[in-house]
Amino acid sequence: MNKGQSIKGFSKLSKEAKIEWLINEYLDGDESYIDFLRSYLHPDAKIQKLHDEFIENTITNYYLPLGIAPNFLINGKIYALPMAIEESSVVAAAAKSANFWLERGGFTTTVLSTTKIGHVHFMYFGDGEKLKKFIERHLAKFYEDTHHITANMQARGGGILSIALKNLTHKLEGYYQLEAKFETCDSMGANFINSCLEQMAKTLTILIAESQEFSESEKHVQIVMRILSNYTPECIVKAEVSCPIEQLNADDDITPQEFAEKFYRAVKIAEIEPYRATTHNKGIFNGIDAVVIATGNDFRAVEAAGHTYASRDGQYKSLTHCDISDGIFRFWIELPLALGVVGGLTSLHPMVRFSLALLGKPSATELMGIVAASGLAQNFAALRALVTSGIQKGHMKMHLLNILNQLEATEEEKKFFINYFKDKVVTYAETVRKFCELRGIPAESYVNIHHK
Ligand code: MEV
Repeated sequence: MNKGQSIKGFSKLSKEAKIEWLINEYLDGDESYIDFLRSYLHPDAKIQKLHDEFIENTITNYYLPLGIAPNFLINGKIYALPMAIEESSVVAAAAKSANFWLERGGFTTTVLSTTKIGHVHFMYFGDGEKLKKFIERHLAKFYEDTHHITANMQARGGGILSIALKNLTHKLEGYYQLEAKFETCDSMGANFINSCLEQMAKTLTILIAESQEFSESEKHVQIVMRILSNYTPECIVKAEVSCPIEQLNADDDITPQEFAEKFYRAVKIAEIEPYRATTHNKGIFNGIDAVVIATGNDFRAVEAAGHTYASRDGQYKSLTHCDISDGIFRFWIELPLALGVVGGLTSLHPMVRFSLALLGKPSATELMGIVAASGLAQNFAALRALVTSGIQKGHMKMHLLNILNQLEATEEEKKFFINYFKDKVVTYAETVRKFCELRGIPAESYVNIHHK
Protein backbone atom coordinates (compact mmCIF):
# COMPACT_ATOMS: atom_id res chain seq x y z
CA MET A 1 0.00 0.00 0.00
CA ASN A 2 1.34 3.45 -0.90
CA LYS A 3 1.98 5.63 2.10
CA GLY A 4 2.43 8.79 0.04
CA GLN A 5 3.86 11.00 2.82
CA SER A 6 4.77 14.60 2.07
CA ILE A 7 8.45 15.48 2.34
CA LYS A 8 10.52 18.55 3.08
CA GLY A 9 13.88 19.07 1.38
CA PHE A 10 13.38 16.46 -1.38
CA SER A 11 15.50 18.51 -3.80
CA LYS A 12 18.44 18.36 -1.38
CA LEU A 13 18.53 14.55 -1.33
CA SER A 14 21.01 12.74 -3.57
CA LYS A 15 19.62 11.01 -6.66
CA GLU A 16 19.93 7.62 -4.90
CA ALA A 17 18.19 8.90 -1.77
CA LYS A 18 15.37 10.37 -3.85
CA ILE A 19 14.83 7.01 -5.56
CA GLU A 20 14.98 5.16 -2.25
CA TRP A 21 12.36 7.48 -0.79
CA LEU A 22 10.07 7.06 -3.83
CA ILE A 23 10.38 3.29 -3.63
CA ASN A 24 9.47 3.24 0.04
CA GLU A 25 6.65 5.75 -0.22
CA TYR A 26 5.04 4.88 -3.54
CA LEU A 27 6.40 1.65 -5.02
CA ASP A 28 5.78 -0.93 -2.30
CA GLY A 29 9.46 -1.06 -1.40
CA ASP A 30 10.27 -2.75 -4.71
CA GLU A 31 14.04 -2.32 -4.97
CA SER A 32 14.07 -3.62 -8.57
CA TYR A 33 13.17 -0.08 -9.60
CA ILE A 34 16.71 0.98 -8.66
CA ASP A 35 18.24 -1.03 -11.51
CA PHE A 36 15.37 -0.14 -13.82
CA LEU A 37 15.88 3.60 -13.35
CA ARG A 38 19.66 3.19 -13.50
CA SER A 39 19.39 1.39 -16.83
CA TYR A 40 18.07 4.60 -18.39
CA LEU A 41 21.06 6.68 -17.30
CA HIS A 42 23.61 7.72 -19.91
CA PRO A 43 26.88 5.72 -19.75
CA ASP A 44 28.93 8.91 -20.13
CA ALA A 45 28.82 10.56 -16.70
CA LYS A 46 29.44 14.02 -18.17
CA ILE A 47 26.43 13.75 -20.46
CA GLN A 48 24.32 12.36 -17.64
CA LYS A 49 25.31 15.30 -15.45
CA LEU A 50 24.15 17.67 -18.18
CA HIS A 51 20.77 15.96 -18.22
CA ASP A 52 20.60 15.91 -14.43
CA GLU A 53 21.10 19.65 -14.38
CA PHE A 54 18.53 20.59 -17.04
CA ILE A 55 15.83 20.41 -14.37
CA GLU A 56 15.40 19.90 -10.64
CA ASN A 57 14.95 16.49 -9.01
CA THR A 58 16.14 14.42 -11.98
CA ILE A 59 16.09 10.72 -11.13
CA THR A 60 16.75 9.25 -14.59
CA ASN A 61 16.13 9.98 -18.30
CA TYR A 62 12.91 9.61 -20.25
CA TYR A 63 13.49 8.42 -23.79
CA LEU A 64 11.68 9.48 -26.94
CA PRO A 65 12.74 8.09 -30.30
CA LEU A 66 14.48 10.46 -32.70
CA GLY A 67 13.27 9.62 -36.22
CA ILE A 68 14.26 11.05 -39.57
CA ALA A 69 11.97 12.23 -42.35
CA PRO A 70 14.25 12.59 -45.39
CA ASN A 71 13.63 14.25 -48.78
CA PHE A 72 12.16 17.52 -47.55
CA LEU A 73 12.74 19.90 -50.46
CA ILE A 74 12.42 23.37 -48.93
CA ASN A 75 13.31 26.50 -50.90
CA GLY A 76 15.44 24.40 -53.27
CA LYS A 77 17.43 22.62 -50.53
CA ILE A 78 16.85 19.00 -49.47
CA TYR A 79 16.72 18.41 -45.72
CA ALA A 80 16.49 15.28 -43.58
CA LEU A 81 14.25 16.39 -40.72
CA PRO A 82 14.98 15.19 -37.17
CA MET A 83 11.73 14.41 -35.33
CA ALA A 84 11.46 13.52 -31.65
CA ILE A 85 8.03 11.97 -31.12
CA GLU A 86 6.32 8.91 -29.67
CA GLU A 87 3.32 8.62 -32.04
CA SER A 88 3.89 5.68 -34.40
CA SER A 89 2.76 7.12 -37.71
CA VAL A 90 4.06 10.71 -37.58
CA VAL A 91 7.54 10.27 -39.07
CA ALA A 92 6.25 7.87 -41.72
CA ALA A 93 3.54 10.38 -42.69
CA ALA A 94 6.03 13.26 -42.88
CA ALA A 95 8.39 11.19 -45.02
CA LYS A 96 5.54 10.20 -47.33
CA SER A 97 4.47 13.83 -47.80
CA ALA A 98 8.07 14.92 -48.35
CA ASN A 99 8.46 12.32 -51.10
CA PHE A 100 5.20 13.38 -52.71
CA TRP A 101 6.20 17.05 -52.85
CA LEU A 102 9.81 16.32 -53.77
CA GLU A 103 8.56 15.49 -57.24
CA ARG A 104 6.25 18.51 -57.40
CA GLY A 105 8.53 21.45 -56.61
CA GLY A 106 8.80 21.00 -52.84
CA PHE A 107 7.94 23.51 -50.12
CA THR A 108 8.35 27.26 -50.42
CA THR A 109 8.65 29.13 -47.16
CA THR A 110 8.64 32.84 -46.38
CA VAL A 111 9.29 34.51 -43.05
CA LEU A 112 6.82 37.39 -42.92
CA SER A 113 8.02 38.95 -39.65
CA THR A 114 10.23 38.20 -36.62
CA THR A 115 9.11 40.64 -33.92
CA LYS A 116 8.50 39.42 -30.36
CA ILE A 117 6.50 41.16 -27.66
CA GLY A 118 6.59 41.57 -23.89
CA HIS A 119 4.76 43.60 -21.28
CA VAL A 120 5.13 45.30 -17.96
CA HIS A 121 1.59 44.90 -16.59
CA PHE A 122 0.86 47.60 -14.03
CA MET A 123 -1.87 49.48 -12.20
CA TYR A 124 -2.10 53.26 -12.16
CA PHE A 125 -5.14 55.12 -10.93
CA GLY A 126 -4.29 58.66 -12.09
CA ASP A 127 -4.68 60.72 -15.26
CA GLY A 128 -4.00 58.42 -18.24
CA GLU A 129 -3.19 61.18 -20.69
CA LYS A 130 -0.62 62.63 -18.32
CA LEU A 131 1.01 59.21 -17.94
CA LYS A 132 1.10 58.70 -21.72
CA LYS A 133 2.86 62.01 -22.34
CA PHE A 134 5.22 61.36 -19.44
CA ILE A 135 6.28 57.95 -20.84
CA GLU A 136 6.72 59.38 -24.33
CA ARG A 137 8.97 62.13 -23.00
CA HIS A 138 11.08 59.61 -21.05
CA LEU A 139 11.41 56.85 -23.66
CA ALA A 140 15.15 57.44 -24.04
CA LYS A 141 15.61 56.61 -20.36
CA PHE A 142 14.12 53.14 -20.85
CA TYR A 143 16.56 52.45 -23.71
CA GLU A 144 19.45 53.87 -21.71
CA ASP A 145 18.69 51.82 -18.59
CA THR A 146 18.40 48.58 -20.58
CA HIS A 147 21.55 49.24 -22.61
CA HIS A 148 23.67 46.87 -20.50
CA ILE A 149 21.25 44.06 -21.43
CA THR A 150 20.70 45.00 -25.06
CA ALA A 151 24.25 45.92 -26.17
CA ASN A 152 25.20 42.39 -27.35
CA MET A 153 21.87 41.83 -29.06
CA GLN A 154 22.21 45.22 -30.79
CA ALA A 155 25.65 44.19 -32.06
CA ARG A 156 23.95 41.15 -33.66
CA GLY A 157 21.32 43.37 -35.31
CA GLY A 158 18.58 43.05 -32.70
CA GLY A 159 17.38 44.77 -29.55
CA ILE A 160 14.34 46.70 -28.43
CA LEU A 161 12.31 47.92 -31.42
CA SER A 162 9.70 50.00 -29.63
CA ILE A 163 8.24 50.83 -26.24
CA ALA A 164 4.71 52.16 -25.87
CA LEU A 165 2.10 52.66 -23.19
CA LYS A 166 -1.19 50.81 -23.64
CA ASN A 167 -4.22 51.99 -21.73
CA LEU A 168 -6.44 49.01 -20.94
CA THR A 169 -8.56 50.66 -18.26
CA HIS A 170 -11.69 49.98 -20.34
CA LYS A 171 -11.05 46.27 -19.63
CA LEU A 172 -9.82 46.48 -16.04
CA GLU A 173 -9.87 49.58 -13.86
CA GLY A 174 -6.38 51.07 -13.53
CA TYR A 175 -4.75 48.52 -15.87
CA TYR A 176 -1.92 49.70 -18.15
CA GLN A 177 0.85 47.98 -20.04
CA LEU A 178 4.25 49.08 -21.11
CA GLU A 179 4.43 47.11 -24.32
CA ALA A 180 7.87 46.50 -25.77
CA LYS A 181 8.69 44.89 -29.11
CA PHE A 182 11.94 43.04 -29.69
CA GLU A 183 14.14 41.58 -32.39
CA THR A 184 16.03 38.65 -30.89
CA CYS A 185 17.90 37.45 -34.04
CA ASP A 186 18.89 33.79 -33.78
CA SER A 187 17.77 33.31 -30.20
CA MET A 188 14.24 32.62 -29.00
CA GLY A 189 14.98 35.49 -26.63
CA ALA A 190 12.82 34.70 -23.61
CA ASN A 191 15.51 35.49 -21.04
CA PHE A 192 16.63 38.57 -22.94
CA ILE A 193 13.09 39.92 -23.17
CA ASN A 194 12.24 39.18 -19.54
CA SER A 195 15.46 40.83 -18.32
CA CYS A 196 14.67 43.95 -20.36
CA LEU A 197 11.11 44.05 -19.01
CA GLU A 198 12.27 43.72 -15.41
CA GLN A 199 14.62 46.66 -15.93
CA MET A 200 11.88 48.70 -17.64
CA ALA A 201 9.58 48.12 -14.67
CA LYS A 202 12.29 49.44 -12.32
CA THR A 203 12.84 52.47 -14.54
CA LEU A 204 9.11 53.18 -14.66
CA THR A 205 8.76 52.93 -10.89
CA ILE A 206 11.73 55.22 -10.23
CA LEU A 207 10.79 57.78 -12.90
CA ILE A 208 7.29 58.18 -11.48
CA ALA A 209 8.43 58.19 -7.86
CA GLU A 210 10.96 60.95 -8.55
CA SER A 211 8.70 63.06 -10.76
CA GLN A 212 7.06 66.27 -9.52
CA GLU A 213 4.25 65.80 -12.07
CA PHE A 214 2.35 63.13 -10.18
CA SER A 215 0.35 63.55 -7.01
CA GLU A 216 1.16 61.29 -4.06
CA SER A 217 -1.81 59.02 -4.84
CA GLU A 218 -0.83 58.83 -8.55
CA LYS A 219 2.63 57.72 -7.53
CA HIS A 220 1.17 54.48 -6.14
CA VAL A 221 1.95 52.55 -9.29
CA GLN A 222 1.78 48.81 -8.75
CA ILE A 223 3.88 46.62 -11.04
CA VAL A 224 1.86 43.41 -11.34
CA MET A 225 4.00 41.37 -13.77
CA ARG A 226 6.93 41.68 -16.17
CA ILE A 227 6.87 38.96 -18.78
CA LEU A 228 7.19 38.24 -22.48
CA SER A 229 4.07 37.18 -24.37
CA ASN A 230 4.18 33.76 -25.99
CA TYR A 231 1.65 35.09 -28.47
CA THR A 232 3.81 36.36 -31.30
CA PRO A 233 1.47 37.43 -34.14
CA GLU A 234 4.31 39.53 -35.55
CA CYS A 235 6.69 36.56 -35.79
CA ILE A 236 5.05 34.74 -38.68
CA VAL A 237 6.14 32.19 -41.25
CA LYS A 238 4.33 30.82 -44.27
CA ALA A 239 5.00 27.49 -45.98
CA GLU A 240 3.34 26.51 -49.21
CA VAL A 241 3.07 23.70 -51.75
CA SER A 242 1.35 23.80 -55.12
CA CYS A 243 1.00 21.81 -58.31
CA PRO A 244 -1.38 21.40 -61.24
CA ILE A 245 -4.42 19.45 -60.04
CA GLU A 246 -3.80 16.72 -62.61
CA GLN A 247 -0.50 15.92 -60.86
CA LEU A 248 -2.34 15.07 -57.64
CA ASN A 249 -2.14 11.37 -58.17
CA ALA A 250 -3.77 10.23 -54.96
CA ASP A 251 -3.02 6.54 -55.68
CA ASP A 252 -6.53 5.70 -54.56
CA ASP A 253 -9.86 5.15 -56.23
CA ILE A 254 -10.61 8.78 -56.98
CA THR A 255 -9.49 11.12 -59.77
CA PRO A 256 -7.05 13.98 -59.03
CA GLN A 257 -9.91 16.46 -59.48
CA GLU A 258 -12.13 14.61 -57.00
CA PHE A 259 -9.22 14.34 -54.61
CA ALA A 260 -8.51 18.09 -54.87
CA GLU A 261 -12.15 18.92 -54.20
CA LYS A 262 -12.45 16.61 -51.20
CA PHE A 263 -9.15 17.87 -49.80
CA TYR A 264 -10.28 21.50 -50.30
CA ARG A 265 -13.54 20.74 -48.46
CA ALA A 266 -11.68 19.03 -45.63
CA VAL A 267 -9.68 22.24 -45.12
CA LYS A 268 -12.82 24.40 -45.40
CA ILE A 269 -14.52 22.28 -42.72
CA ALA A 270 -11.54 22.89 -40.41
CA GLU A 271 -11.82 26.62 -41.20
CA ILE A 272 -15.43 26.82 -40.03
CA GLU A 273 -15.81 24.04 -37.45
CA PRO A 274 -13.89 24.18 -34.15
CA TYR A 275 -14.28 20.46 -33.31
CA ARG A 276 -12.62 19.51 -36.56
CA ALA A 277 -10.19 22.46 -36.43
CA THR A 278 -8.82 21.22 -33.11
CA THR A 279 -8.00 17.76 -34.48
CA HIS A 280 -6.78 19.23 -37.76
CA ASN A 281 -4.37 21.54 -35.93
CA LYS A 282 -3.36 18.75 -33.54
CA GLY A 283 -2.16 16.85 -36.59
CA ILE A 284 -0.21 19.91 -37.72
CA PHE A 285 1.49 20.09 -34.33
CA ASN A 286 2.41 16.39 -34.61
CA GLY A 287 4.90 17.54 -37.24
CA ILE A 288 5.77 20.91 -35.73
CA ASP A 289 6.37 19.74 -32.15
CA ALA A 290 8.53 16.81 -33.27
CA VAL A 291 11.02 19.11 -35.04
CA VAL A 292 10.70 21.79 -32.35
CA ILE A 293 11.61 19.25 -29.64
CA ALA A 294 14.44 17.74 -31.71
CA THR A 295 15.93 21.22 -32.16
CA GLY A 296 15.68 22.07 -28.46
CA ASN A 297 12.94 24.64 -28.75
CA ASP A 298 10.00 25.26 -26.44
CA PHE A 299 7.07 23.32 -27.89
CA ARG A 300 4.66 24.61 -25.23
CA ALA A 301 5.37 28.19 -26.32
CA VAL A 302 4.98 27.22 -29.98
CA GLU A 303 1.69 25.42 -29.30
CA ALA A 304 0.29 28.26 -27.18
CA ALA A 305 1.08 30.85 -29.86
CA GLY A 306 -0.30 28.65 -32.63
CA HIS A 307 -3.60 28.03 -30.87
CA THR A 308 -4.08 31.73 -30.03
CA TYR A 309 -3.30 32.61 -33.64
CA ALA A 310 -5.84 30.01 -34.78
CA SER A 311 -8.47 31.88 -32.69
CA ARG A 312 -7.51 35.40 -33.69
CA ASP A 313 -10.84 36.09 -35.44
CA GLY A 314 -12.80 35.07 -32.35
CA GLN A 315 -13.29 31.45 -33.43
CA TYR A 316 -10.76 28.61 -33.39
CA LYS A 317 -9.86 27.75 -37.00
CA SER A 318 -7.54 25.72 -39.18
CA LEU A 319 -3.93 26.94 -39.44
CA THR A 320 -3.74 25.63 -43.03
CA HIS A 321 -5.62 26.83 -46.09
CA CYS A 322 -6.29 25.49 -49.57
CA ASP A 323 -7.18 26.89 -52.97
CA ILE A 324 -8.03 24.94 -56.10
CA SER A 325 -8.69 27.63 -58.68
CA ASP A 326 -7.39 27.78 -62.30
CA GLY A 327 -6.42 24.10 -62.32
CA ILE A 328 -3.82 24.62 -59.58
CA PHE A 329 -3.86 23.00 -56.13
CA ARG A 330 -2.38 25.34 -53.51
CA PHE A 331 -2.01 24.40 -49.87
CA TRP A 332 -0.35 26.57 -47.25
CA ILE A 333 0.15 27.20 -43.57
CA GLU A 334 0.71 30.50 -41.83
CA LEU A 335 1.52 30.59 -38.15
CA PRO A 336 3.65 32.26 -35.48
CA LEU A 337 6.86 30.41 -34.61
CA ALA A 338 9.23 31.89 -32.04
CA LEU A 339 12.31 29.70 -32.40
CA GLY A 340 15.96 29.91 -31.52
CA VAL A 341 19.13 28.25 -32.72
CA VAL A 342 21.42 29.79 -30.12
CA GLY A 343 20.99 29.94 -26.35
CA GLY A 344 18.70 27.74 -24.27
CA LEU A 345 19.27 24.02 -24.82
CA THR A 346 20.65 24.49 -28.33
CA SER A 347 24.33 24.31 -27.51
CA LEU A 348 23.94 22.09 -24.42
CA HIS A 349 21.80 19.10 -25.31
CA PRO A 350 23.90 16.70 -27.41
CA MET A 351 20.88 15.51 -29.44
CA VAL A 352 19.84 19.07 -30.15
CA ARG A 353 23.34 19.88 -31.35
CA PHE A 354 23.15 16.83 -33.59
CA SER A 355 19.73 17.83 -34.97
CA LEU A 356 20.88 21.36 -35.75
CA ALA A 357 24.04 20.02 -37.42
CA LEU A 358 21.88 17.65 -39.49
CA LEU A 359 19.85 20.64 -40.66
CA GLY A 360 23.05 22.42 -41.67
CA LYS A 361 23.13 24.77 -38.64
CA PRO A 362 20.17 26.86 -39.84
CA SER A 363 19.45 30.44 -38.78
CA ALA A 364 16.31 30.96 -36.68
CA THR A 365 14.41 32.16 -39.75
CA GLU A 366 15.52 29.14 -41.80
CA LEU A 367 14.38 26.90 -38.95
CA MET A 368 11.00 28.67 -38.90
CA GLY A 369 10.54 27.63 -42.53
CA ILE A 370 11.64 24.05 -41.89
CA VAL A 371 9.28 23.66 -38.93
CA ALA A 372 6.36 25.21 -40.81
CA ALA A 373 7.01 22.81 -43.71
CA SER A 374 6.94 19.85 -41.32
CA GLY A 375 3.53 21.00 -40.02
CA LEU A 376 2.18 21.45 -43.53
CA ALA A 377 3.53 18.05 -44.61
CA GLN A 378 1.92 16.37 -41.63
CA ASN A 379 -1.43 17.98 -42.33
CA PHE A 380 -1.19 17.05 -46.01
CA ALA A 381 -0.53 13.40 -45.10
CA ALA A 382 -3.41 13.34 -42.60
CA LEU A 383 -5.94 14.95 -44.95
CA ARG A 384 -4.80 12.85 -47.87
CA ALA A 385 -5.48 9.70 -45.87
CA LEU A 386 -8.68 11.04 -44.32
CA VAL A 387 -10.31 11.92 -47.67
CA THR A 388 -9.27 8.62 -49.28
CA SER A 389 -8.51 5.35 -47.52
CA GLY A 390 -9.05 6.65 -43.96
CA ILE A 391 -6.50 7.27 -41.27
CA GLN A 392 -6.46 3.84 -39.61
CA LYS A 393 -4.80 2.00 -42.50
CA GLY A 394 -1.48 3.85 -42.21
CA HIS A 395 -1.77 4.61 -38.51
CA MET A 396 -2.44 1.03 -37.42
CA LYS A 397 0.21 -0.33 -39.80
CA MET A 398 2.73 1.76 -37.87
CA HIS A 399 1.10 0.92 -34.54
CA LEU A 400 1.26 -2.85 -35.21
CA LEU A 401 4.72 -3.19 -33.69
CA ASN A 402 3.53 -1.48 -30.51
CA ILE A 403 0.67 -3.98 -30.20
CA LEU A 404 3.02 -6.89 -30.86
CA ASN A 405 5.53 -5.58 -28.33
CA GLN A 406 2.72 -5.31 -25.81
CA LEU A 407 1.89 -8.97 -26.51
CA GLU A 408 5.60 -9.79 -26.18
CA ALA A 409 5.67 -11.31 -29.65
CA THR A 410 8.89 -12.88 -30.89
CA GLU A 411 10.78 -11.51 -33.90
CA GLU A 412 9.44 -14.45 -35.94
CA GLU A 413 5.87 -13.64 -34.92
CA LYS A 414 6.42 -9.96 -35.79
CA LYS A 415 7.55 -10.95 -39.29
CA PHE A 416 4.49 -13.13 -39.65
CA PHE A 417 2.15 -10.30 -38.67
CA ILE A 418 3.74 -7.72 -40.95
CA ASN A 419 3.12 -10.11 -43.81
CA TYR A 420 -0.33 -11.09 -42.54
CA PHE A 421 -1.53 -7.47 -42.53
CA LYS A 422 0.01 -6.56 -45.90
CA ASP A 423 -3.42 -6.45 -47.56
CA LYS A 424 -5.60 -5.90 -44.46
CA VAL A 425 -6.29 -3.00 -42.13
CA VAL A 426 -4.65 -3.66 -38.76
CA THR A 427 -6.94 -3.73 -35.74
CA TYR A 428 -6.07 -4.49 -32.15
CA ALA A 429 -8.78 -7.16 -31.93
CA GLU A 430 -7.65 -8.99 -35.08
CA THR A 431 -3.99 -8.91 -33.99
CA VAL A 432 -4.86 -10.44 -30.64
CA ARG A 433 -7.22 -13.05 -32.19
CA LYS A 434 -4.63 -14.17 -34.70
CA PHE A 435 -1.86 -14.06 -32.10
CA CYS A 436 -3.81 -16.37 -29.79
CA GLU A 437 -4.66 -18.66 -32.70
CA LEU A 438 -0.98 -18.90 -33.64
CA ARG A 439 0.10 -19.72 -30.11
CA GLY A 440 -2.80 -22.09 -29.67
CA ILE A 441 -4.15 -20.31 -26.64
CA PRO A 442 -7.80 -19.31 -26.05
CA ALA A 443 -8.58 -15.81 -27.35
CA GLU A 444 -9.98 -14.81 -23.93
CA SER A 445 -6.52 -15.22 -22.43
CA TYR A 446 -5.25 -12.14 -24.29
CA VAL A 447 -6.13 -10.13 -21.19
CA ASN A 448 -3.56 -12.18 -19.27
CA ILE A 449 -0.95 -11.74 -21.99
CA HIS A 450 -1.69 -8.02 -22.06
CA HIS A 451 -1.19 -7.63 -18.33
CA LYS A 452 1.59 -10.12 -17.89
C1 MEV B 1 -3.54 12.04 -35.15
O1 MEV B 1 -2.46 12.20 -34.23
C2 MEV B 1 -3.70 13.27 -35.98
C3 MEV B 1 -4.92 13.27 -36.93
O2 MEV B 1 -6.11 13.02 -36.18
C4 MEV B 1 -4.96 14.62 -37.55
C5 MEV B 1 -6.21 14.90 -38.37
O3 MEV B 1 -7.28 14.31 -38.12
O4 MEV B 1 -6.11 15.78 -39.27
C6 MEV B 1 -4.80 12.18 -37.94
